[in-house]
Amino acid sequence: MTTREQNDFLALTGPGTPMGSLFRRYWIPALLACEIPEPDSPPVRVKLMSERLLAFRDTNGRVGLIDEFCAHRGVSLWFGRNEEDGLRCPYHGWKYVVSGQCTEVPSEPVESGFCQKIKLKSYPCVELGDVIWAYMGPAELQPPLPGFEWARVAAAHRFVSKRTQDCNWLQAMEGGIDSVHVSFLHRHDLRSDPLHVGQGAEFTRETDARFEVVETAGGMVIGVRRPATPGNLYWRITQWIMPFHTMIPPYGDNALNGHAFVPIDDETCMSWCFTHHPMRPLSDHELGVMRNGGGIHVNLIPGTFRPVVNKDNDYMIDRIAQKQHKSYCGVKGIAMQDAAIQESMGPIQDRTKENLVSTDNGVIMARIRLRKAALAAQRGEAPDGLDPATHAVRSAAIVLPAAASFYEAAADALRATAGVAHTSV
Ligand code: FES
Ligand SMILES: [Fe+2]
Repeated sequence: MTTREQNDFLALTGPGTPMGSLFRRYWIPALLACEIPEPDSPPVRVKLMSERLLAFRDTNGRVGLIDEFCAHRGVSLWFGRNEEDGLRCPYHGWKYVVSGQCTEVPSEPVESGFCQKIKLKSYPCVELGDVIWAYMGPAELQPPLPGFEWARVAAAHRFVSKRTQDCNWLQAMEGGIDSVHVSFLHRHDLRSDPLHVGQGAEFTRETDARFEVVETAGGMVIGVRRPATPGNLYWRITQWIMPFHTMIPPYGDNALNGHAFVPIDDETCMSWCFTHHPMRPLSDHELGVMRNGGGIHVNLIPGTFRPVVNKDNDYMIDRIAQKQHKSYCGVKGIAMQDAAIQESMGPIQDRTKENLVSTDNGVIMARIRLRKAALAAQRGEAPDGLDPATHAVRSAAIVLPAAASFYEAAADALRATAGVAHTSV
């Protein structure tokens, strides 16, 4: 049983918390590159793990991620003027560059050197795969850049979106590795969503699912098998990569999908959604579906990353569709079904009250792995999942003879190899 202490240990990620310190050892998806599209474009507020920050692109195209608030008297630099290689506070004109260094305090004589003593907190950023990643940990421990296949393929092979979710990161991430819920929560969408059709979708509707979890260097693979053709089993194999990346098993020739569940604060997270095809550019049809909230992506309120369907409108639940077996839970769209169910657990799920069963094995093992990693990081050890080679993996959907070990039989399918198609039925 989970105690309150264990629940908090895993859920809370603010500065100084064990899990927050662990997360700060990794590169974190912070914002979409297109949010600050060009030099001197308007700055953007970014909240990460309870820290309020501001992202901007300076006149030379360099990206800065600095404390949101001016060191003078605390004005939000979101109102700032982004010009001449820095961000100027609109209240009294103090100016900051991407490193957070203050370079001008107009009220003080230049000779005083006052501005040199002022520096805002700032974090290194890198642009990779249409995403600006931030590193918020100790400078001497900065890891190599991420090696996820979706971030490394040509831009035309990839579609990235993000949406806010009104719940703690952990219950969202746990939904990503709970492959069994697909047979229930999403069962009717497996026939109607154009990016989820295929033979595998029919097998997935089978509710007799068994779990096998194998630990890997960077996380774990979760194999879920269901009866397929006589003598064979249909395996859906999910990847979990520390600390919050998941890769969803594909259907047919559809692209691969994955998520990252990044804490905004303890009661809100950003669900990043990554779709990519290793072999070909995404088609206009696929892009059209995703831009219209299909697949794992959702429609957003214009100018925000908040879904149109959200808890304030009861997720526009359609009780008639639910009754008529058109939607298992009555919420439209796979992504919003997940979000609605996860948010319904409350801002931070109270795990002291849950009753876990054998199909929760992936969830249980991820919690153990995260706790161990946070404790090891406290002792100064490097956590798993920092090596980019551990990111270069794929999910898979495969039919195997009943006697086969899924992890051995699917070994090639689980590696991201450039020029080799993913394995999907
Ligand atoms: S508060 Fe920013 S310059 Fe005064
Ligand atoms: Fe789901």
